[in-house]
Amino acid sequence: MNAFIQTQALKKTYQLGDQRVEALRGIELTIAQSDFVVFMGHSGSGKTTLISTIGGLTRPTEGSVSIEGTDIWRLNDRELSAFRNRKIGFMFQSFSLLPSLNVLQNVVMPVIFRKNGKREKTDAIRERALSLLAGLEMKKKIDAHPSELSGGEQRRVAIARALINEPDIILADEPTGELDIRTEREVIEIFRAINSQYRKTIIVVSHSLSWLESAKTVIIMKDGLMHLDVPDPVEALMGRACRP
Ligand SMILES: Nc1ncnc2c1ncn2[C@@H]1O[C@H](COP(=O)(O)OP(=O)(O)OP(=O)(O)O)[C@@H](O)[C@H]1O
Ligand SMILES: [Mg+2]
Repeated sequence: MNAFIQTQALKKTYQLGDQRVEALRGIELTIAQSDFVVFMGHSGSGKTTLISTIGGLTRPTEGSVSIEGTDIWRLNDRELSAFRNRKIGFMFQSFSLLPSLNVLQNVVMPVIFRKNGKREKTDAIRERALSLLAGLEMKKKIDAHPSELSGGEQRRVAIARALINEPDIILADEPTGELDIRTEREVIEIFRAINSQYRKTIIVVSHSLSWLESAKTVIIMKDGLMHLDVPDPVEALMGRACRP
């Protein structure tokens, strides 16, 4: 497989008082470009830790993460933040929409934080944001604030924001959490379209089984380890049929 993203012997141990928490216990993962990967697994199994380590947000205790040949945890802070900004679009709960900004302003936020790289004209950024919002059927709401939007509309704004810097990779932690089933399906369909039309590599963490039919690769996490090619993910999540 052409390794677009690769982790080697990836470990993360948290020290919580006098307790050591082994959140990742040696993850060997290879993801090809344009894959659509969904991570599932019980609460506390290490999903968020893994994708934030891949995304350059959480430094691993041991091991490496390589993205298109760049060993990201060997970059200095400035290089890493530039790499992250250019390559990865995030949809994480910790990056919720800013309530004081309207929809359009929220979407262009990551461009403002892009320090390296060529200066881009404000008009061009605005046009790109508007075109993304139009594609997500949000053009009528560009002046609204997050509190004036439904949950599904807020997710669509967060998707537009994740795409504004034209990243190759989208990392999303529970992007459909707390949504009703119809809105959840709409959001999943948007991810599927981004994957097939723009060939972006999509990595999603979710507890919802609704992702299973759209995913190209399903990975079950259990106690800081991963299980690939699980024949029946639902059985595995029920605690059966998941060999170490
Ligand atoms: N900052 C932290 N400090 C200490 N322990 C942490 C920290 N972050 C995560 N952990 C622990 O690491 C383990 C893995 O957590 P993680 O958030 O990756 O799980 P998860 O699979 O995303 O769970 P959930 O489905 O509930 O979101 C858990 O035992 C958690 O308590
Ligand atoms: Mg999590």
